[in-house]
Amino acid sequence: MPVLRRPTTGSGRGPLADRFGRVATDLRLSLTDKCNLRCTYCMPAEGLDWMPSAQLLADDEVVRLVRVGVERLGITTVRLTGGEPLLRRNLEGLVTELAALSPRPVLALTTNGIGLAARAEGLAAAGLDRINISLDTLQAETFVQLSRRRRLADVLAGVRAAREAGLDPVKINTVLLRGVNDHEAVPLLEWAMAEGVQLRFIEQMPLDAQHAWQRRTMITAAEIWARLDAHHRLVEDPADALARGSAPAELFRVAGTSHTVGIIAAVTKPFCGSCDRVRLTADGQVRTCLFSQSETDLRGVMRAGASDGDLADIWITALRGKQAGHGIDDPSFLQPDRPMSAIGG
Ligand code: 5AD
Ligand code: SF4
Repeated sequence: MPVLRRPTTGSGRGPLADRFGRVATDLRLSLTDKCNLRCTYCMPAEGLDWMPSAQLLADDEVVRLVRVGVERLGITTVRLTGGEPLLRRNLEGLVTELAALSPRPVLALTTNGIGLAARAEGLAAAGLDRINISLDTLQAETFVQLSRRRRLADVLAGVRAAREAGLDPVKINTVLLRGVNDHEAVPLLEWAMAEGVQLRFIEQMPLDAQHAWQRRTMITAAEIWARLDAHHRLVEDPADALARGSAPAELFRVAGTSHTVGIIAAVTKPFCGSCDRVRLTADGQVRTCLFSQSETDLRGVMRAGASDGDLADIWITALRGKQAGHGIDDPSFLQPDRPMSAIGG
């Protein structure tokens, strides 16, 4: 095993700043690439070749890298993602350890909700602060068509359990696909208002393993807005632009109610200019963007004996290479090799 030469000039400390004036404070941490659904916009029916477990970061490695992030690099929020993060063994134990770090990061989870009904309370008790649950349809047959699994009831039970466990806010992520569930925009909003959860529509991005995404079939944010507004007048909140900061969802208030709905125009109105994210894959690679074509290996250097300062230096250097934007509209755009399930949402 090569002995790592310690950098002589690095301080091993500093913000994760890039060349465009952005600073990453929000870490998206993928804990597994496995999933128990097979959403058509993400995976083929047969699933993917899962990462071999020796390549996955072990629990102590995950905690160490996040500790370096919060102690040395200014990470303030950690969002646990997958694949499906509830499939990670000992997730509650990991949450407990991450919540004990100082300064304590805000801890969030993005999940498909399966199995959440039995675990929401334990996760909240372990220190989870926020949750995003993915739900694209309220119709059992459409759920099967979209995710290739008959699990709608589990997800709905998970949503309820998350609310009962006091996780607040509970946000629901929805992707609309033309001809599949796009007629459900309004029913989904009415359901979310009745459940007291915040719905956010996300434009479908070219991140599917099958590379089948097509811009012309994508349901755009403008279409979603028009469909909702035809039934429930949406009012723009003038304070939203200010409050929004780097949050990607444009929030609208449903007129005459206290409910809001988010529309994330990831493709048609990119928010790359205010991006504050950095990603770490389940196998320990830093990705500065969902759409990066390159990654920086932290697992290998860590296993070769790197110090915390070395890891911080490598991470800082990685951020200097962050691209200005996703460039989906550039003729030269290339979809990343890793699909969404292996990057983390
Ligand atoms: N485009 C947009 N959103 C996606 N998600 C998964 N794949 C895509 C895609 N191609 C969403 C899931 C989930 C979150 C992790 O990302 O629906 O809510
Ligand atoms: Fe699983 Fe999420 Fe991909 Fe669906 S979108 S198959 S829930 S990882």
